[in-house]
Amino acid sequence: MGGPDSPSSPSAVATTTVCVTGATGYIGSWLVRSLLQRGYSVHATARDTGKALSLLSTFSGNSRLKIFRSDLNEEGSFDEAVKGCLAVFHVAASMEFNVSVEENIDDHVQSKITEPAVKGTLNVLQACSRAGSVKRIIFTSSISTITAKDDKGESRELVDESSVTPITEVWNTKPKGWVYVLSKLLTEEKAFQFAKERGIHLVSIIPPTVAGPFLTTSVPTSVQVLLSSITGDPNLYPILVSVHSRLGSIPLVHIEDICNAHIFLMEQAGAEGRFICSVGSSTMPQLTDLLSLEYPSFSSKRFAEGFPDAVPPVISSMRLTNLGFKFKYGVRDIIEQSVACCIKNDFLKCPITEGIHN
Ligand SMILES: NC(=O)c1ccc[n+]([C@@H]2O[C@H](COP(=O)([O-])OP(=O)(O)OC[C@H]3O[C@@H](n4cnc5c(N)ncnc54)[C@H](OP(=O)(O)O)[C@@H]3O)[C@@H](O)[C@H]2O)c1
Repeated sequence: MGGPDSPSSPSAVATTTVCVTGATGYIGSWLVRSLLQRGYSVHATARDTGKALSLLSTFSGNSRLKIFRSDLNEEGSFDEAVKGCLAVFHVAASMEFNVSVEENIDDHVQSKITEPAVKGTLNVLQACSRAGSVKRIIFTSSISTITAKDDKGESRELVDESSVTPITEVWNTKPKGWVYVLSKLLTEEKAFQFAKERGIHLVSIIPPTVAGPFLTTSVPTSVQVLLSSITGDPNLYPILVSVHSRLGSIPLVHIEDICNAHIFLMEQAGAEGRFICSVGSSTMPQLTDLLSLEYPSFSSKRFAEGFPDAVPPVISSMRLTNLGFKFKYGVRDIIEQSVACCIKNDFLKCPITEGIHN
Protein backbone atom coordinates (compact mmCIF):
# COMPACT_ATOMS: atom_id res chain seq x y z
CA MET A 1 0.00 0.00 0.00
CA GLY A 2 1.13 3.61 -0.39
CA GLY A 3 2.37 5.47 -3.50
CA PRO A 4 0.08 6.81 -6.23
CA ASP A 5 -2.45 4.01 -5.73
CA SER A 6 -2.35 4.36 -1.96
CA PRO A 7 -5.84 4.48 -0.48
CA SER A 8 -4.84 7.82 1.13
CA SER A 9 -4.95 9.65 -2.23
CA PRO A 10 -8.42 11.24 -2.60
CA SER A 11 -9.29 9.50 -5.88
CA ALA A 12 -8.30 6.11 -4.48
CA VAL A 13 -10.18 6.65 -1.18
CA ALA A 14 -13.39 7.19 -3.12
CA THR A 15 -13.14 3.70 -4.61
CA THR A 16 -11.66 1.89 -1.63
CA THR A 17 -13.74 -0.45 0.51
CA VAL A 18 -12.50 -1.47 3.94
CA CYS A 19 -13.98 -3.70 6.62
CA VAL A 20 -14.23 -3.00 10.37
CA THR A 21 -14.99 -5.91 12.73
CA GLY A 22 -16.58 -5.09 16.09
CA ALA A 23 -18.31 -2.01 14.69
CA THR A 24 -20.76 -1.78 17.61
CA GLY A 25 -17.91 -1.29 20.09
CA TYR A 26 -16.18 1.82 21.40
CA ILE A 27 -13.25 1.83 18.98
CA GLY A 28 -15.12 0.11 16.13
CA SER A 29 -17.98 2.64 15.99
CA TRP A 30 -15.65 5.65 16.11
CA LEU A 31 -13.42 4.06 13.47
CA VAL A 32 -16.38 3.48 11.13
CA ARG A 33 -17.37 7.13 11.51
CA SER A 34 -13.78 8.35 10.87
CA LEU A 35 -13.47 6.18 7.74
CA LEU A 36 -16.81 7.40 6.35
CA GLN A 37 -15.78 11.02 7.07
CA ARG A 38 -12.66 10.47 4.96
CA GLY A 39 -14.63 9.06 2.05
CA TYR A 40 -13.99 5.32 2.39
CA SER A 41 -16.71 2.75 1.75
CA VAL A 42 -17.09 0.66 4.87
CA HIS A 43 -18.25 -2.90 5.55
CA ALA A 44 -19.08 -2.96 9.26
CA THR A 45 -19.52 -6.28 11.04
CA ALA A 46 -21.65 -6.83 14.13
CA ARG A 47 -23.20 -9.71 16.02
CA ASP A 48 -26.39 -7.69 16.36
CA THR A 49 -27.17 -5.86 13.12
CA GLY A 50 -30.08 -3.97 14.72
CA LYS A 51 -27.70 -2.48 17.31
CA ALA A 52 -25.23 -1.62 14.54
CA LEU A 53 -27.92 -0.03 12.39
CA SER A 54 -29.20 2.30 15.11
CA LEU A 55 -25.63 3.29 16.08
CA LEU A 56 -23.95 3.65 12.68
CA SER A 57 -26.72 4.70 10.30
CA THR A 58 -26.76 8.24 11.75
CA PHE A 59 -23.18 8.88 10.53
CA SER A 60 -22.71 11.17 7.57
CA GLY A 61 -21.58 9.25 4.49
CA ASN A 62 -23.80 6.31 5.47
CA SER A 63 -24.65 5.66 1.81
CA ARG A 64 -21.12 4.15 1.70
CA LEU A 65 -21.83 1.90 4.71
CA LYS A 66 -22.94 -1.75 4.63
CA ILE A 67 -23.61 -3.76 7.76
CA PHE A 68 -22.94 -7.51 7.93
CA ARG A 69 -23.88 -9.99 10.64
CA SER A 70 -20.71 -11.80 11.71
CA ASP A 71 -19.75 -13.66 14.86
CA LEU A 72 -16.18 -14.64 15.75
CA ASN A 73 -17.51 -17.97 16.98
CA GLU A 74 -19.09 -18.90 13.64
CA GLU A 75 -16.83 -20.28 10.94
CA GLY A 76 -17.15 -18.54 7.58
CA SER A 77 -19.09 -15.74 9.25
CA PHE A 78 -16.82 -12.97 7.89
CA ASP A 79 -16.63 -14.17 4.28
CA GLU A 80 -19.30 -11.85 2.87
CA ALA A 81 -18.11 -8.85 4.90
CA VAL A 82 -14.50 -8.91 3.73
CA LYS A 83 -15.29 -9.73 0.08
CA GLY A 84 -13.99 -6.91 -2.16
CA CYS A 85 -12.25 -5.10 0.72
CA LEU A 86 -8.72 -3.75 0.30
CA ALA A 87 -8.05 -3.62 4.04
CA VAL A 88 -9.58 -5.12 7.16
CA PHE A 89 -9.47 -3.60 10.64
CA HIS A 90 -9.84 -6.52 13.03
CA VAL A 91 -11.08 -4.73 16.13
CA ALA A 92 -13.64 -7.20 17.57
CA ALA A 93 -12.68 -9.13 20.69
CA SER A 94 -14.29 -10.34 23.86
CA MET A 95 -13.62 -7.93 26.72
CA GLU A 96 -13.83 -10.65 29.38
CA PHE A 97 -11.21 -9.88 32.05
CA ASN A 98 -11.62 -12.59 34.68
CA VAL A 99 -13.22 -15.97 35.30
CA SER A 100 -15.07 -17.11 38.37
CA VAL A 101 -14.52 -20.89 38.18
CA GLU A 102 -12.44 -22.36 40.99
CA GLU A 103 -11.49 -25.82 39.73
CA ASN A 104 -9.41 -26.72 36.67
CA ILE A 105 -9.16 -23.05 35.94
CA ASP A 106 -6.35 -23.39 33.37
CA ASP A 107 -8.28 -26.00 31.37
CA HIS A 108 -11.42 -23.89 31.58
CA VAL A 109 -9.65 -20.73 30.37
CA GLN A 110 -7.92 -22.59 27.57
CA SER A 111 -11.00 -24.39 26.26
CA LYS A 112 -13.62 -21.70 26.87
CA ILE A 113 -11.71 -18.45 26.38
CA THR A 114 -8.29 -18.48 24.74
CA GLU A 115 -8.92 -21.22 22.14
CA PRO A 116 -12.22 -19.67 20.99
CA ALA A 117 -10.51 -16.24 20.87
CA VAL A 118 -7.73 -17.58 18.64
CA LYS A 119 -10.22 -19.48 16.49
CA GLY A 120 -12.30 -16.32 16.12
CA THR A 121 -9.34 -14.27 14.91
CA LEU A 122 -8.28 -17.03 12.51
CA ASN A 123 -11.85 -17.03 11.22
CA VAL A 124 -11.43 -13.39 10.18
CA LEU A 125 -7.99 -14.00 8.69
CA GLN A 126 -9.15 -17.06 6.74
CA ALA A 127 -11.97 -14.97 5.28
CA CYS A 128 -9.36 -12.36 4.24
CA SER A 129 -7.21 -15.03 2.65
CA ARG A 130 -10.19 -16.48 0.73
CA ALA A 131 -11.35 -13.03 -0.42
CA GLY A 132 -8.14 -12.41 -2.37
CA SER A 133 -8.72 -8.63 -2.40
CA VAL A 134 -7.36 -7.90 1.11
CA LYS A 135 -3.92 -6.31 0.97
CA ARG A 136 -3.53 -5.36 4.62
CA ILE A 137 -4.99 -6.30 8.00
CA ILE A 138 -4.75 -3.92 10.92
CA PHE A 139 -5.03 -5.98 14.09
CA THR A 140 -6.06 -4.20 17.29
CA SER A 141 -3.77 -5.57 19.98
CA SER A 142 -3.45 -4.18 23.51
CA ILE A 143 -0.92 -2.69 25.93
CA SER A 144 -1.73 -5.72 28.09
CA THR A 145 0.72 -7.58 25.81
CA ILE A 146 3.47 -5.22 27.04
CA THR A 147 5.28 -5.11 30.38
CA ALA A 148 7.79 -2.74 31.93
CA LYS A 149 9.36 -5.60 33.89
CA ASP A 150 12.44 -7.28 32.44
CA ASP A 151 13.16 -11.00 32.85
CA LYS A 152 14.66 -10.35 36.31
CA GLY A 153 11.50 -8.52 37.41
CA GLU A 154 13.29 -5.15 37.37
CA SER A 155 11.62 -2.12 35.85
CA ARG A 156 12.87 -1.05 32.40
CA GLU A 157 13.49 2.65 31.82
CA LEU A 158 12.10 2.48 28.30
CA VAL A 159 9.19 0.30 27.22
CA ASP A 160 8.70 -0.41 23.54
CA GLU A 161 7.11 -3.00 21.26
CA SER A 162 9.77 -5.56 22.16
CA SER A 163 8.83 -5.48 25.87
CA VAL A 164 6.38 -8.36 25.51
CA THR A 165 4.58 -9.87 28.51
CA PRO A 166 5.75 -13.52 28.69
CA ILE A 167 2.79 -15.90 28.20
CA THR A 168 4.05 -18.43 30.77
CA GLU A 169 4.31 -15.71 33.40
CA VAL A 170 0.64 -14.79 32.87
CA TRP A 171 -0.40 -18.44 33.29
CA ASN A 172 1.74 -18.74 36.43
CA THR A 173 0.90 -15.47 38.17
CA LYS A 174 -2.70 -14.88 36.97
CA PRO A 175 -2.74 -11.10 37.62
CA LYS A 176 -6.06 -9.18 37.54
CA GLY A 177 -7.40 -9.26 34.00
CA TRP A 178 -5.11 -12.21 33.12
CA VAL A 179 -7.68 -13.89 30.89
CA TYR A 180 -7.84 -10.81 28.65
CA VAL A 181 -4.03 -10.49 28.63
CA LEU A 182 -3.68 -14.12 27.53
CA SER A 183 -6.32 -13.79 24.82
CA LYS A 184 -4.65 -10.72 23.34
CA LEU A 185 -1.15 -12.27 23.48
CA LEU A 186 -2.25 -15.54 21.89
CA THR A 187 -4.53 -14.05 19.22
CA GLU A 188 -1.88 -11.58 18.10
CA GLU A 189 0.82 -14.25 17.96
CA LYS A 190 -1.39 -16.57 15.87
CA ALA A 191 -2.54 -13.70 13.64
CA PHE A 192 1.05 -12.79 12.71
CA GLN A 193 1.88 -16.46 12.13
CA PHE A 194 -1.15 -17.04 9.88
CA ALA A 195 -0.61 -13.81 7.93
CA LYS A 196 3.03 -14.73 7.30
CA GLU A 197 2.12 -18.22 6.08
CA ARG A 198 -0.52 -16.83 3.69
CA GLY A 199 1.50 -13.82 2.53
CA ILE A 200 -0.97 -11.28 3.94
CA HIS A 201 0.42 -7.99 5.25
CA LEU A 202 -0.61 -7.66 8.89
CA VAL A 203 0.17 -4.68 11.11
CA SER A 204 -0.66 -4.59 14.80
CA ILE A 205 -1.61 -1.47 16.75
CA ILE A 206 -1.14 -1.52 20.50
CA PRO A 207 -3.56 0.79 22.31
CA PRO A 208 -3.18 1.62 25.99
CA THR A 209 -6.34 2.65 27.88
CA VAL A 210 -8.52 4.41 25.31
CA ALA A 211 -10.79 7.17 26.61
CA GLY A 212 -12.44 10.48 25.81
CA PRO A 213 -15.93 10.88 24.32
CA PHE A 214 -17.91 7.91 23.01
CA LEU A 215 -20.69 7.21 20.51
CA THR A 216 -21.97 3.99 22.09
CA THR A 217 -25.12 4.07 24.25
CA SER A 218 -23.33 2.45 27.18
CA VAL A 219 -20.15 3.77 28.76
CA PRO A 220 -17.18 1.89 27.23
CA THR A 221 -15.37 -0.48 29.57
CA SER A 222 -12.06 1.36 29.16
CA VAL A 223 -13.63 4.69 30.15
CA GLN A 224 -15.17 2.96 33.16
CA VAL A 225 -11.77 1.51 34.07
CA LEU A 226 -10.15 4.95 33.83
CA LEU A 227 -12.83 6.51 36.05
CA SER A 228 -12.98 3.59 38.48
CA SER A 229 -11.19 5.52 41.19
CA ILE A 230 -14.13 7.97 41.10
CA THR A 231 -16.85 5.32 40.87
CA GLY A 232 -15.06 2.85 43.15
CA ASP A 233 -16.11 0.00 40.85
CA PRO A 234 -14.82 -3.08 42.72
CA ASN A 235 -14.29 -5.10 39.52
CA LEU A 236 -12.63 -2.43 37.38
CA TYR A 237 -10.45 -0.53 39.87
CA PRO A 238 -8.22 -3.62 40.38
CA ILE A 239 -7.66 -3.66 36.58
CA LEU A 240 -6.36 -0.09 36.75
CA VAL A 241 -4.08 -1.03 39.64
CA SER A 242 -2.87 -4.07 37.72
CA VAL A 243 -1.97 -1.95 34.66
CA HIS A 244 -0.10 0.43 36.97
CA SER A 245 1.82 -2.38 38.61
CA ARG A 246 2.84 -3.86 35.22
CA LEU A 247 3.78 -0.55 33.55
CA GLY A 248 4.52 1.84 36.45
CA SER A 249 1.84 4.25 35.19
CA ILE A 250 -1.43 4.35 33.25
CA PRO A 251 -0.68 5.06 29.58
CA LEU A 252 -3.52 6.72 27.66
CA VAL A 253 -4.73 7.61 24.20
CA HIS A 254 -7.72 9.63 22.97
CA ILE A 255 -10.37 7.73 20.98
CA GLU A 256 -9.97 10.02 17.97
CA ASP A 257 -6.18 9.54 17.95
CA ILE A 258 -6.39 5.74 18.21
CA CYS A 259 -8.79 5.64 15.26
CA ASN A 260 -6.63 8.04 13.25
CA ALA A 261 -3.64 5.81 14.01
CA HIS A 262 -5.52 2.72 12.76
CA ILE A 263 -6.20 4.52 9.46
CA PHE A 264 -2.65 5.93 9.31
CA LEU A 265 -1.21 2.41 9.60
CA MET A 266 -3.47 1.21 6.80
CA GLU A 267 -2.35 4.05 4.53
CA GLN A 268 1.41 3.95 5.29
CA ALA A 269 3.36 1.82 2.86
CA GLY A 270 6.24 1.45 5.33
CA ALA A 271 4.23 0.18 8.28
CA GLU A 272 5.48 -3.22 9.46
CA GLY A 273 5.04 -5.12 12.72
CA ARG A 274 3.73 -3.71 15.99
CA PHE A 275 3.07 -0.08 16.98
CA ILE A 276 2.43 1.24 20.48
CA CYS A 277 0.05 4.21 20.29
CA SER A 278 0.19 6.05 23.62
CA VAL A 279 0.27 9.84 23.94
CA GLY A 280 1.52 9.82 27.54
CA SER A 281 0.87 8.35 30.92
CA SER A 282 0.03 9.26 34.50
CA THR A 283 1.03 7.61 37.72
CA MET A 284 -1.92 6.89 40.01
CA PRO A 285 -1.28 10.00 42.17
CA GLN A 286 -1.08 12.13 39.00
CA LEU A 287 -4.23 10.54 37.61
CA THR A 288 -6.23 11.12 40.78
CA ASP A 289 -5.04 14.75 40.88
CA LEU A 290 -6.22 15.23 37.28
CA LEU A 291 -9.55 13.54 38.02
CA SER A 292 -10.05 15.79 41.05
CA LEU A 293 -9.46 18.86 38.89
CA GLU A 294 -12.11 17.73 36.39
CA TYR A 295 -14.51 16.35 38.96
CA PRO A 296 -14.03 18.46 42.10
CA SER A 297 -16.48 16.54 44.30
CA PHE A 298 -14.22 13.51 44.00
CA SER A 299 -12.03 13.06 47.04
CA SER A 300 -9.21 11.13 45.50
CA LYS A 301 -6.53 11.07 48.11
CA ARG A 302 -7.11 7.52 49.36
CA PHE A 303 -6.81 6.19 45.81
CA ALA A 304 -3.45 7.89 45.33
CA GLU A 305 -1.88 6.25 48.38
CA GLY A 306 0.32 3.16 48.38
CA PHE A 307 1.90 3.65 44.97
CA PRO A 308 5.70 3.79 44.75
CA ASP A 309 7.13 7.26 44.42
CA ALA A 310 9.35 6.23 41.49
CA VAL A 311 9.96 7.77 38.08
CA PRO A 312 7.78 5.66 35.76
CA PRO A 313 9.24 3.99 32.67
CA VAL A 314 8.80 5.83 29.37
CA ILE A 315 6.22 4.04 27.20
CA SER A 316 7.49 4.78 23.73
CA SER A 317 5.33 5.40 20.66
CA MET A 318 8.45 6.31 18.65
CA ARG A 319 7.90 3.63 16.00
CA LEU A 320 4.58 5.29 15.18
CA THR A 321 5.66 8.93 15.45
CA ASN A 322 8.85 8.24 13.44
CA LEU A 323 6.58 7.18 10.57
CA GLY A 324 4.93 10.61 10.79
CA PHE A 325 1.90 10.05 13.02
CA LYS A 326 0.87 13.06 15.11
CA PHE A 327 -1.29 12.94 18.24
CA LYS A 328 -3.98 15.59 18.55
CA TYR A 329 -4.95 15.18 22.22
CA GLY A 330 -2.93 15.04 25.44
CA VAL A 331 -3.58 13.26 28.75
CA ARG A 332 -5.41 16.26 30.26
CA ASP A 333 -7.78 16.45 27.24
CA ILE A 334 -8.53 12.74 27.53
CA ILE A 335 -9.46 12.97 31.19
CA GLU A 336 -11.44 16.19 30.77
CA GLN A 337 -13.46 14.78 27.83
CA SER A 338 -14.05 11.39 29.51
CA VAL A 339 -15.48 13.05 32.62
CA ALA A 340 -17.58 15.47 30.55
CA CYS A 341 -19.06 12.68 28.40
CA CYS A 342 -19.81 10.54 31.46
CA ILE A 343 -21.60 13.46 33.15
CA LYS A 344 -23.57 14.08 29.93
CA ASN A 345 -24.59 10.40 29.87
CA ASP A 346 -25.53 10.34 33.59
CA PHE A 347 -22.76 7.87 34.39
CA LEU A 348 -21.26 10.45 36.74
CA LYS A 349 -23.43 12.87 38.67
CA CYS A 350 -23.21 16.45 37.52
CA PRO A 351 -21.10 18.20 40.23
CA ILE A 352 -23.36 21.30 40.19
CA THR A 353 -26.64 19.38 40.58
CA GLU A 354 -25.01 17.18 43.18
CA GLY A 355 -24.03 20.29 45.14
CA ILE A 356 -27.61 21.61 45.04
CA HIS A 357 -29.05 18.33 46.38
CA ASN A 358 -26.51 17.99 49.19
N1 LIG B 1 -10.70 0.42 24.76
C1 LIG B 1 -9.47 0.20 25.17
O1 LIG B 1 -8.96 0.86 26.09
C2 LIG B 1 -8.63 -0.83 24.51
C3 LIG B 1 -7.27 -0.89 24.86
C4 LIG B 1 -6.47 -1.84 24.25
C5 LIG B 1 -6.98 -2.68 23.30
N2 LIG B 1 -8.30 -2.60 22.98
C6 LIG B 1 -8.82 -3.53 21.96
O2 LIG B 1 -9.64 -2.80 21.07
C7 LIG B 1 -10.67 -3.63 20.59
C8 LIG B 1 -12.01 -2.96 20.78
O3 LIG B 1 -12.16 -2.63 22.13
P1 LIG B 1 -13.34 -1.65 22.62
O4 LIG B 1 -12.81 -0.86 23.74
O5 LIG B 1 -13.95 -1.00 21.47
O6 LIG B 1 -14.33 -2.75 23.24
P2 LIG B 1 -15.91 -2.91 23.09
O7 LIG B 1 -16.55 -1.59 23.11
O8 LIG B 1 -16.31 -3.91 24.12
O9 LIG B 1 -16.06 -3.55 21.66
C9 LIG B 1 -15.80 -4.89 21.41
C10 LIG B 1 -16.46 -5.25 20.09
O10 LIG B 1 -16.17 -6.63 19.80
C11 LIG B 1 -17.40 -7.27 19.50
N3 LIG B 1 -17.37 -8.69 19.84
C12 LIG B 1 -17.16 -9.26 21.05
N4 LIG B 1 -17.26 -10.59 20.95
C13 LIG B 1 -17.56 -10.86 19.66
C14 LIG B 1 -17.83 -12.04 18.92
N5 LIG B 1 -17.81 -13.24 19.49
N6 LIG B 1 -18.09 -11.94 17.60
C15 LIG B 1 -18.12 -10.73 16.98
N7 LIG B 1 -17.90 -9.57 17.63
C16 LIG B 1 -17.63 -9.64 18.94
C17 LIG B 1 -18.45 -6.54 20.33
O11 LIG B 1 -19.73 -6.79 19.80
P3 LIG B 1 -21.07 -6.62 20.67
O12 LIG B 1 -21.45 -5.16 20.58
O13 LIG B 1 -22.04 -7.51 19.99
O14 LIG B 1 -20.74 -7.05 22.08
C18 LIG B 1 -17.98 -5.11 20.12
O15 LIG B 1 -18.41 -4.62 18.88
C19 LIG B 1 -10.53 -4.97 21.29
O16 LIG B 1 -9.79 -5.83 20.46
C20 LIG B 1 -9.72 -4.62 22.52
O17 LIG B 1 -8.96 -5.72 22.98
C21 LIG B 1 -9.14 -1.71 23.56
